[in-house]
Amino acid sequence: MQSDNVIWHRATVTRKRRAQQNQHRSVVLWFTGLSGSGKSTLAHALEEQLYRRGGRTFVLDGDNVRHGLCGDLGFSDTDRVENIRRVGELSKLFLEAGVIVLTAFISPFRSDRRIVRKLLGENNFIEVYCHCSLDTCEERDVKGLYKLARAGEIKHFTGISSPYEEPTQPELVVKTDQLSIADSVQQVMTYLEAQGLFPEAQNNIENTQEIA
Ligand code: ADX
Repeated sequence: MQSDNVIWHRATVTRKRRAQQNQHRSVVLWFTGLSGSGKSTLAHALEEQLYRRGGRTFVLDGDNVRHGLCGDLGFSDTDRVENIRRVGELSKLFLEAGVIVLTAFISPFRSDRRIVRKLLGENNFIEVYCHCSLDTCEERDVKGLYKLARAGEIKHFTGISSPYEEPTQPELVVKTDQLSIADSVQQVMTYLEAQGLFPEAQNNIENTQEIA
C-alpha cells in the first residue's frame, strides 16, 4: 500500500443494518466468460428480476467501466490484472453498501478471480461461468470484434490471441449457448433462493458480517 498514515474510519451504518433495511444481504455475482458469451445480457436480465422483487442491485459491466474508472487500461495481461483488481475493490465497496452486485467482465485469469474471491470472502462471492463455445461467440460476433481480431486488427483478443482460463470450481455454470435468457435467469435465481440469499432471507441478514 502506497498511502501512508491513513486510518480506517468505522461506519455506524453497518452492512448488517443495511441488510435489515433492504430485507436481503449483499452479495457479488461474478459473471465470467468469453466476449459475446452473454455475461452482460444475463446480468442485466437477472438484475431486472431482482429489482422487481425489491432487491437493491447494480451491474458493473466491462465495456462501461472501461469508459471511466478503467479507461486508462488496455488489454495486455498487466492491464487486465489491474482492471479486475479495481473492479474487485469497487465490488467490495458496493458489498459494504448493501447492494447485490452483478459484474460482467471477461476476467480471463483464474488467479485474478481467486484474488477477488479472497478479497470479498467466500460467502460473498458467487462465480457464474457463462459457458459458450468460442465457435458460437465468434458466429454471433455481436460487436464485430472477432472478425477484426481474426484479421489481426485487434491484438490480444480473448480466445483468439489471448487466453481464457475456464473456472475449475465455479458456483454455477450457465450454458448460455443452450439455454434461453429466461432459463438462464431462472437457473441463477433458483441458486440464490436455494442458498437463502434472496428474497427476504432473515437468517442471512442475521449472519451478515462486516467485511474485514
Ligand atoms: S477483461 O479481460 O479485462 O476482463 P473486460 O470484460 O473489461 O475484459 O472487457 C471486455 C470487452 O472489451 C469485450 O466485451 C469487448 O467488447 C471489448 N474488447 C476490446 N478489445 C478486446 C480484447 N483485446 N480482448 C477482449 N475484449 C476486448
